[in-house]
Amino acid sequence: MPRLDGKIALVTGAGAGIGEAIARRFRAEGASLVVNDLDAERAERVAREVGGWSFAADVADSGAVARMFGTVAKRHGRLDVLVNNAGIAGHESDPSRAERFASATLAQMQERATSGAVKTHIDVTLETTDAEWERMIAVHLSGTFFCTREALRIMSPQLAGSIINMGSIMGTAGGAGVPGYSAAKAGILGLTRALARELATRQIRVNAIAPGWIETAMTAPLAPLRPLLEMQTPLGRMGSPDDIAHAAVYLASDEAAFVTGQVLSPNGGWHMSQ
Ligand SMILES: NC(=O)c1ccc[n+]([C@@H]2O[C@H](COP(=O)([O-])OP(=O)(O)OC[C@H]3O[C@@H](n4cnc5c(N)ncnc54)[C@H](O)[C@@H]3O)[C@@H](O)[C@H]2O)c1
Repeated sequence: MPRLDGKIALVTGAGAGIGEAIARRFRAEGASLVVNDLDAERAERVAREVGGWSFAADVADSGAVARMFGTVAKRHGRLDVLVNNAGIAGHESDPSRAERFASATLAQMQERATSGAVKTHIDVTLETTDAEWERMIAVHLSGTFFCTREALRIMSPQLAGSIINMGSIMGTAGGAGVPGYSAAKAGILGLTRALARELATRQIRVNAIAPGWIETAMTAPLAPLRPLLEMQTPLGRMGSPDDIAHAAVYLASDEAAFVTGQVLSPNGGWHMSQ
């Protein structure tokens, strides 16, 4: 029997990358999909391909999120799985930032190896504006909170459900050049644990996935760092979106019935203990 047979699942940011792979794997395992993305065309394309329906909404907009879950309640009357996956790297509007970050990282390595004195600095925190900081926290942390709160209006009376939040190795290890992203992801892991405790009495499980370096549009501008990232990863490669989708299938399925408050980190060995 398919592992998610008959389950209704909503995946945010499912119009591309990891979210799209999760939607496809969920469908292959028998789930019915609600595909969310900020980008309506992407969401609609994936929804068509997985035989589900789409709802374009910004997860950072609590009104839009409430309308989305209201529609889920009307159309299905239940919700079994929520995947809070939508996310941004912060360099979407200006990919040259990622390129500058990559070349500064490589320059630092070179300087360490040759003279030992590092003269190149990353300085992202100094350059981060209020608006950039707030958007990062809004999409990741507030988005996860808004979607969870609305999902609970449906899941709580069911006394069942699985919520999966997308963290990152940056949320556990921290990352030079990604202060807002690391803070938001660390916040998501704290929220996951708090929710897991609060919702356990309703048999609603809450877990996080903390991926390592995964090949998607988000990491594409870091191409010059790829050999370094692969070298730092014991399994010697970047992950694929499917590497994460398999973990999501497990956490969504009844195989994980005794799993809550956990962080599952498919990262090729980059991080060995969370
Ligand atoms: N790629 C990696 O290496 C990596 C590593 C660790 C964690 N992650 C996390 O995995 C998740 C997916 O990342 P990805 O690599 O697939 O990125 P991606 O850029 O390929 O896809 C992200 C999708 O989310 C959508 N999105 C962005 N902001 C949104 C919003 N406010 N509301 C709704 N949808 C929104 C985008 O339109 C896009 O379709 C993110 O939370 C990311 O932080 C990625």
